[in-house]
Amino acid sequence: MSAKTNDRKGGAIDNADMKVAPWCTRPDVSPLRYPGGKRKLVPFIADVIKRADLQVELFIEPFAGGAAASIALLESGHVQSIALADADPLIASFWKTVFSRDAQRLADMVCDTRVTLREWRRQKDLSPRSTLAAAFKCLFLNRTSFSGSLVPRTGAIGGMSQTGVYKIGCRFNQERLARRIVELSELAPRVRFVRNDSYRKTMADVARTTFAAKHSSKIFWYLDPPFFAKAERLYRFSFNDEQHRQFALDIKTLAGHWLLSYDDHHDARRMYQRHAGFARVNLRYSARIDNGERLIASEVIVSDVIASLRRRDKLQKWGMVIRLPRRLQFVGRFYEAATPKVASAAR
Ligand SMILES: C[S@@+](CC[C@H](N)C(=O)[O-])C[C@H]1O[C@@H](n2cnc3c(N)ncnc32)[C@H](O)[C@@H]1O
Repeated sequence: MSAKTNDRKGGAIDNADMKVAPWCTRPDVSPLRYPGGKRKLVPFIADVIKRADLQVELFIEPFAGGAAASIALLESGHVQSIALADADPLIASFWKTVFSRDAQRLADMVCDTRVTLREWRRQKDLSPRSTLAAAFKCLFLNRTSFSGSLVPRTGAIGGMSQTGVYKIGCRFNQERLARRIVELSELAPRVRFVRNDSYRKTMADVARTTFAAKHSSKIFWYLDPPFFAKAERLYRFSFNDEQHRQFALDIKTLAGHWLLSYDDHHDARRMYQRHAGFARVNLRYSARIDNGERLIASEVIVSDVIASLRRRDKLQKWGMVIRLPRRLQFVGRFYEAATPKVASAAR
């Protein structure tokens, strides 16, 4: 694929070298519908790994959420093992259960539950007494609440009246979810850990391991912290300004390679745009792609790997906007760039 776009200074960037990773991520890669989920960024992360020729033995997602990136890269063989952590105990319980012997029990609960407003209210008030019960609460509320948000004040899909087209169960396909949970549980031997911790504790604990001391180049951190804007409406755990600043300092101490993605907020740009590995990637086709300031659904990316590729002239030097293929379509085992017809229809 070859396409031209402009960077913010107006210089043309040829994206012909932006390879499409020859594999795909299925839309239901994660059973969680995660607000700000990064499934669409996966081909880009895979591409960065491939270009730098990294052998990633351990891919760590300390802000796991829906964990789409970890799972997709593991299933596609781009990384050998993964590790997940999240400050939210419901999210951590979900992933602990999926990669445990209780996965089948969770799948059974998914099949057996009645997806009603009454159950939604019960789950909302429930204080789970076991990891399995917390896992179920997480999945149930995630798939039956607006935007998949677990925040207490988020309402149920379809509202309290349930009179609209979309009802509470519209995103809860019991059989498909149960099947996916069992399928994912088979990856358990390649999941190094799942923990309910703050990213700082995860970073500190990993840094103390012999593996990090001896093989830090085989570790890749994917960092997807809470948004700058309105995160408290989406997640039960978010950052204030001071925590965003602290996080920028913490990255400097990381053992291993890393890639950070942020919502394209002016504070994120201000904080990271001087980093040699700074880029903006658009996740969705936009008719105004040529105007860097009017990208839609773009993401701020910062990575030590991008900085190193630029140093070695393997990526454009100062192109701030990296464009992903307009639309990716699943064709056999390969994604292909969409035809011009699809692209123009999106204008
Ligand atoms: C942007 S979301 C991650 C989305 C995820 N990458 C995906 O694709 O679904 C940010 C996540 O960070 C978690 N979080 C917030 N503060 C945290 C902290 N201090 N340490 C670890 N996780 C935290 C939130 O619970 C939320 O799940």
